[in-house]
Amino acid sequence: MTTDGTPPGKIHPTLRTSSHTPVVSAGKVEPCSLVIFGITGDLAERKLIPALYHLEKEGSLPDCLPLIGVGRRDLSGDGLANSLREKVSLFSGTKAQGDVWKCLVSGFQYVRGDFDNADTYRALGETLAELEREKGTGGNRLFYLATPPGLFPVIVRNLSDADLLHRSGRRGEGPWSRVIIEKPFGRDLESAKELNRLVGGVLREDQTFRIDHYLGKETVQNILTFRFGNSIFEPIWNRKYIDHVQITAAEEIGVEGRGAFYDNTGVLRDIIQNHLLQVLALCAMEPPVSFKADEIRDEKVQVLRSLRPFWPDDMGKAVLFGQYDGYRENDGVARDSRTPTFTALRVLIDNWRWQGVPFYLRAGKKLTSRVTEVAIHFQRIPFCLFGHEGVCRQIDPNVLVLRIQPDEGICLCFASKIPGDDIKVATVKMDMSYSETFQQRVGDAYERLILDCMRGDATLFARKDEVERSWEFVTPLLDTWESGTERPCTYAPGSDGPVEADRLIGADGRIWRALK
Ligand code: BG6
Repeated sequence: MTTDGTPPGKIHPTLRTSSHTPVVSAGKVEPCSLVIFGITGDLAERKLIPALYHLEKEGSLPDCLPLIGVGRRDLSGDGLANSLREKVSLFSGTKAQGDVWKCLVSGFQYVRGDFDNADTYRALGETLAELEREKGTGGNRLFYLATPPGLFPVIVRNLSDADLLHRSGRRGEGPWSRVIIEKPFGRDLESAKELNRLVGGVLREDQTFRIDHYLGKETVQNILTFRFGNSIFEPIWNRKYIDHVQITAAEEIGVEGRGAFYDNTGVLRDIIQNHLLQVLALCAMEPPVSFKADEIRDEKVQVLRSLRPFWPDDMGKAVLFGQYDGYRENDGVARDSRTPTFTALRVLIDNWRWQGVPFYLRAGKKLTSRVTEVAIHFQRIPFCLFGHEGVCRQIDPNVLVLRIQPDEGICLCFASKIPGDDIKVATVKMDMSYSETFQQRVGDAYERLILDCMRGDATLFARKDEVERSWEFVTPLLDTWESGTERPCTYAPGSDGPVEADRLIGADGRIWRALK
C-alpha cells in the first residue's frame, strides 16, 4: 500500500471519481428508426444485434426504437427475431434476457426483398412511415449498410430514388437521415473515389458515417486521451526520443467461413488500409486544435498525407507478404491463391516529428496468439555509467505498450536495480489494466459507434479524404503485388508468422516483440 492507502499500481480512487464528470460530453442520443440492410448476414448476427441488445439492456437506446431489418431470405419477422435472439447468446456470451429482448424487438419489422429492386424500397418506405407515426421518432432515420461491399452503391442509389433520405437535418433543422457504410470502403483508390462520388451525390458528408470498428474500441480512443491528457509524454513523443514504433494486429483465427470474401480482399485491404493506418494516424498525429470531429480528422489526414510511398523495389525489404499453410484449403479460396494472410511493413512518415523513425506494421491470421498493440520503443541510453559499453547494451531501452486487446491496458517497461550490493539491472514493468482499474464492462466498439451515429458525432468515423489518402498509400502496393507472380512466404498456423518478417526488421538491427 502507498501512504494514502491506494494499492500500488492502481489508479487513485479520487481520480476515478472525478472521471465521472465528462471532459467531453458524448451528447444526446436522438430518437430515430434504425434500418439494417443485411440483417440475416454475418455482421448483423455477430456484432450488430448483440451490440443493440447490450445497449437496450443498459437503457442507452432511444425509447421503443423502431428496428427494421432488410434481407433477401424468405423468413417471417418472428422467426428471424427468434434466430437473432439465439445469436446474442452465441456471440456475446450472455443469454438474451426475456424482458430486454422483448423491448428491443417490440418495434421490429422484417422487409424481404432484393437490394436492387425498387419494390423493396417502396415496402421499406411504407414500413418506416407506419413505425414513425406509431413511435413518434420525428422522422429521423439511420440506415446501416451491413451487406457485401458490392451492394453499397446499389442501396444508396435506391434509397435516394425512393426518396427515403431526408436532405434536411443539418444543425437540428427537420428530421435527419444518416447512413453507416461498412468497410471495405472501396477496394483501391479509384473505387473508393467512385464510391465517395456516388455517396456524395445523394448525401452530405455530415450524413455519411464510414465505419472502422477499431475507432470504437475504448483502447484506441484512449490513445488521444493518453497522449494529450498527460503532459509527460508529449515532449518525448518524437524522433529525438523514439527509436521506432511497432503496431501489431495478430489474430489466432483464420478466415472462419469467409474464404471467398477474404481471398478477394487479403490482409492489406482487410486490416492495414483501415484499422492499422487509423491506429498509426492516432499515434503519430499532431495535437488537434480541439476535440471536435473535424479538427481530429484534419490532423489524422496530415499523417496519412505524409506517409512515404512504397516503390516496387521495396518488396522484400520494406514489405513482406505471407500466407499460412492450409489457407488454400478453405472453402471459397482459390487452390493457387496468392492472397496474403500476413504482412509486415516498414512505414516512414515524412514530417518534422517523425523523420527517420520507422513504424513497423504487422498483421496476420492464424498466428500464435491474439494481440493488438502499439509498442513505442524509446532510444537507448546515450551514455553508459555502468561499466563498459557491452554491459550497457544489455539494458533494454524503455518500451511503452498500449495494449488494445485482449487484456486492455498500458504498460511501461523500464530499467531497475536488482536489490543487492552489486549493481545489476533488470527490466521491470508498470502495468495498468483496464479491467482491474475501472472494474466495469467495456462495451463493444459497435455499441459506441451506433450510439455516436444516433448523436450525429462523426469523430470516430473516417472522413472522405482520410479514406482516399489511406487508399492512395496502399494501392501502389496492391498493384505491385497483384500484377506480379511471386508467391507469398509461407508460415505455419500457430507460429509468429514467416521467418522472412524477422529478417525485414532484423536488417534494421531490431526485433519484433513476442506475440505471447
Ligand atoms: C475485421 C476483419 O474488420 O476485423 C476481420 O474483416 C478481422 O478479418 C476483424 O478478424 C478483427 O477485429 P477485432 O475487433 O476482432 O480485432
